[in-house]
Amino acid sequence: MSTVRRIGLLFGMEDTFPWALINAIDARGGGEITAAPVEISYLRDTQHFDYALILDRISHEVPYYRTFLKVAAARGVQVVNNPFWWSADDKYFGNIVAESVGVATPRTVLLPHKDRPPNTEANSFRNLRLVDWDEVFGYLGFPIFLKPAYGGGWKDVYKCDTPAEFFAAYDNTRDLTMMAQEAIDFEDYYRIYVIGRKHVHVMRYDPKQPHHLRYVLDAPRTEPALLTRLRRDALALSEALGYDMNTVELAVRGGIPYAIDFTNPAPDADAHSVGPANFTWIVDAMAETLIDRVRNPLPLELTGAWPQTTALARGHV
Ligand SMILES: Nc1ncnc2c1ncn2[C@@H]1O[C@H](COP(=O)(O)OP(=O)(O)O)[C@@H](O)[C@H]1O
Ligand SMILES: [Mg+2]
Repeated sequence: MSTVRRIGLLFGMEDTFPWALINAIDARGGGEITAAPVEISYLRDTQHFDYALILDRISHEVPYYRTFLKVAAARGVQVVNNPFWWSADDKYFGNIVAESVGVATPRTVLLPHKDRPPNTEANSFRNLRLVDWDEVFGYLGFPIFLKPAYGGGWKDVYKCDTPAEFFAAYDNTRDLTMMAQEAIDFEDYYRIYVIGRKHVHVMRYDPKQPHHLRYVLDAPRTEPALLTRLRRDALALSEALGYDMNTVELAVRGGIPYAIDFTNPAPDADAHSVGPANFTWIVDAMAETLIDRVRNPLPLELTGAWPQTTALARGHV
């Protein structure tokens, strides 16, 4: 006699993907695996979690949920994406992970906060020395992208053509942790879904268009060698990070893909934004991946594969 195993979805304002995914899981689960929204009240230290797997789409906005998910994972629930690594990663560190798996990244520097974070004063920064801006600009060249290391959704992203524009933008960044990055003058730009560290869906994307036109429908065919490289890079990054639902953005300059934005554990999957064909793909790939994960659970992971691959790249193991 088999008991029904439950997949819980934890989500926020989005209103197309969760319901479509629940239907797709129920349609494939053969009555043996079903899906529903997670129900949470307070979290008790003796809590039993009645889910085989939870898909997390929202804990980056709700810290209470993040702790709930870490506890669920520690108690044996499969949590997608890994809440431990999600809590630890950031865009700047991502470049180190990319390097460990042979993926190109733009030249990038991390900058001290423009304004003092709360509860700090001048003496909190006794270790900090002034930034040599000529050195930074010499290293990166203009234009420079200035964007948060802990960021998403195009918030606080600036493209700066001159030092004056750069300083005006930096002055607006409050106490965010900002990174300054060489702008890649790309011939093509791709946004790639990587699901279950195995299914790859390459979408031509034009970030210079307004939101509703960014997923390009009538794009010319991508040359096969480049397509192979895009797929390899996107897969290598997602595997290194250990994410089972991720989007990787690659900007192609001179035939080389540069990783721009690839730590997206709750990527956009809204039907109205990605369009019907991409939506069908992501719903099917996620349903298949989550059902497979319930049937073949993984041991608790704290990171992805990157610590090993980093050591390998340096010849330490
Ligand atoms: N180094 C870069 N070179 C060229 N374009 C960039 C670069 N960094 C960011 N961009 C542009 O800015 C957009 C937003 O930056 P991104 O890193 O994707 O931030 P977010 O996580 O907020 O989406 C990208 O889609 C891309 O169009
Ligand atoms: Mg982006």
